[in-house]
Amino acid sequence: MKGTVLYEVKEEVAILTVDNPPVNPLSDGVRTGLYESLVKAEEDDSVKGVVLTGNGRAFIAGADISEFGGNVEGIPLNEVFNKLEFCKKPVVAAINGVALGGGLETALCCNYRIAAETAFVGLPEVNLGLLPGGGGTQRLPRLIGPGEALKMMLSGSHVPAIKALKMGIVDKTSKDVVAESIDFIKEMASNNDNHPRVRDKNEKMLEARGDKNILLEAQAMAAKARKGQFAPGQIIKCVEAAINIDNFDEGIKKEGEYFMECLFHPQREAMIHIFFGERAASKISDVPKDTKIKDIKKAGIIGSGTMGGGIAMCFANAGIPVHIIDQDEENLKRGVSVIEKNYDFMVNKGRLTAEQKDGVFGLVTSSLDYKDVSDCDIVIEAVYENLELKHEIFKSLDEHVKEGAILASNTSGLDIDSIASVTKRPEMVVGTHFFSPANIMRLLEVVRGEATSDETLATIMAIGKKLKKAAVVSLNAPGFIGNRMLFGYTAQANMLLLEGALPHQIDQALESFGLNMGPFRMMDLVGLDLGWRARKLSGKESPLHAKIGDELCEQDRYGQKNGAGYYNYSEGSRAPNPAPENEETYERISAENGFTRREISDEEIVDRCILALINEGADILSEGVSQRAADIDVVYINGYGFPIWRGGPMHHANAMGLDVVIEKLEKYKEITGSDVYKPSEMLVKLAKNGEKLGEAPEKDNRKEKLGFEMSSVANNF
Ligand SMILES: NC(=O)c1ccc[n+]([C@@H]2O[C@H](COP(=O)([O-])OP(=O)(O)OC[C@H]3O[C@@H](n4cnc5c(N)ncnc54)[C@H](O)[C@@H]3O)[C@@H](O)[C@H]2O)c1
Repeated sequence: MKGTVLYEVKEEVAILTVDNPPVNPLSDGVRTGLYESLVKAEEDDSVKGVVLTGNGRAFIAGADISEFGGNVEGIPLNEVFNKLEFCKKPVVAAINGVALGGGLETALCCNYRIAAETAFVGLPEVNLGLLPGGGGTQRLPRLIGPGEALKMMLSGSHVPAIKALKMGIVDKTSKDVVAESIDFIKEMASNNDNHPRVRDKNEKMLEARGDKNILLEAQAMAAKARKGQFAPGQIIKCVEAAINIDNFDEGIKKEGEYFMECLFHPQREAMIHIFFGERAASKISDVPKDTKIKDIKKAGIIGSGTMGGGIAMCFANAGIPVHIIDQDEENLKRGVSVIEKNYDFMVNKGRLTAEQKDGVFGLVTSSLDYKDVSDCDIVIEAVYENLELKHEIFKSLDEHVKEGAILASNTSGLDIDSIASVTKRPEMVVGTHFFSPANIMRLLEVVRGEATSDETLATIMAIGKKLKKAAVVSLNAPGFIGNRMLFGYTAQANMLLLEGALPHQIDQALESFGLNMGPFRMMDLVGLDLGWRARKLSGKESPLHAKIGDELCEQDRYGQKNGAGYYNYSEGSRAPNPAPENEETYERISAENGFTRREISDEEIVDRCILALINEGADILSEGVSQRAADIDVVYINGYGFPIWRGGPMHHANAMGLDVVIEKLEKYKEITGSDVYKPSEMLVKLAKNGEKLGEAPEKDNRKEKLGFEMSSVANNF
């Protein structure tokens, strides 16, 4: 059995310490240990009260996720909670550190709760497609009111101790939580026999009965922040039961039923796949675990534009001083003032105090002189996407920046090996592809060049963690992982437009599938003119899928930036309005290119766009550009708005069944005649063996990696 509970008696108080390193989850050994320790404390006449705490930095971080879906041993959690709640001696939870999920639910079964000032609590089960099924949906609303409890459970947010005290989740905060809890429970035990139980607090439930707004607000919150997810609705149903059913145990029974529905829902599997996927992504199979990591005390950024400013904020937010260089004084001033405005916005929204803003913004310095980044441990270049310019900058950085420092590029698609080749330290050159807005988007694609050393990679993965990013390694290949897949996907959306569907139909179909933003809204946001200008410069004829976009640019319709693209935009608004005037263009370009426009079903739209993602993803995996299928899923969810509850495109393919995927690919290859739908060899092989998309093949079995000069992706991003 995993984990245990340590038992000692001090000053007539039994101290129960959960011991299951590193974060004390409620594994079988902990559950059994807790039950047996409670029995021991009850049977020991010298014990007047019980303190329950955790060993190390955590109280109890939650359930043991590795037990999900398997045979569960040890005493079931509800029996342990029952024992705790009806313990014959008063119990105080001494919340010494994180108390999340089952951890907070354990504390809610105690008579009292005292939290260390540094502790935090929360019920984040919703992030795994679950609900707090250990009584959390019934006890938390009784303690703090259903409205606040719903906000906490639907957001899954972590609540710091000070706020938890204000909300009434804990009774006290303390600097020395175990010592104070011992004194507290001694006093409580000697002063009264009637110790409160959360299950008996019915006042807030009675107050809420008949107030429809509480549930309506929760439904609106779930619809906005958790579109398409199953668990939020179940959480709301549980709280509705807590409000309307007088009998607590009946409410618990309902919670159990709704929990089981979540547990067996495919969304739960998808979301747990991403939970583990993000952790696995930080591990690089051929980089030894004990690889030395460089200490990053100061960062430098070259270029104070959209990306440079956002990346600088990431470092400052993580407490790392950052110096920004630009070539142009005006741009530098503008860039730094955008950073300050972003921080002011956070202050206005109450997310940061004025002092905190001064603290983080104080870490950002700037100048026009490359010498000012000479003492940095890492310098990230974020200037215009132009290889010659990047060569120039890397030569100069190599000259000015101290020996041993990492030089990184934020390029969206240029060849990292070529950039590294102009320096005398190619082993310290790496791609760090942040996504816009860099201070908000979680994805960080780490581009591993031919010469990038283990130490450089391990250091970047460690920084990624420090900056709270979901870091994923990609080999240096055109479009890396995300943009290469995006290219095929948007090309198909454009082909559907050419064949007869309209932008709003395509967007709606994909948004109903769960994507945050349909492809045409996205193209309008990015700007149609970027690709158009690049294609004009290349002097080559535009590919079919780009014909309509190019024609719109000829009509000065660049997208959101000038108020007209596939949609129309009113000034100052990002909301897309229909643009019926474009339909003549669509019809004309379709006819000029030999297409007879036809009715296209939503099913075909979703299938064709998502299959393009899956098929390209399988190729990326078979080339070893991505280490594992789950890495691709992490990229697509964190960088491209793919719905987390579908687990990413690769998980979605596995869930559909690879034989079904191949059948569909072949059908669309037949309809379109396009090689985009020629099933990837890897898919065919896996389907034949009844296997799923998982790890990339061993080096010797990989498909040859796409070269930059061979790729059409490189010219489009
Ligand atoms: N904008 C995005 O959405 C996005 C997303 C991911 C990656 N990228 C990549 O990030 C990089 C930067 O893009 P951006 O959108 O922030 O560009 P930007 O046009 O907003 O800013 C570029 C900045 O670089 C400065 N600059 C140019 N030459 C310089 C030099 N020699 N020395 C110092 N500064 C110089 C410019 O003055 C400007 O302030 C590009 O490689 C781009 O492909 C962009």
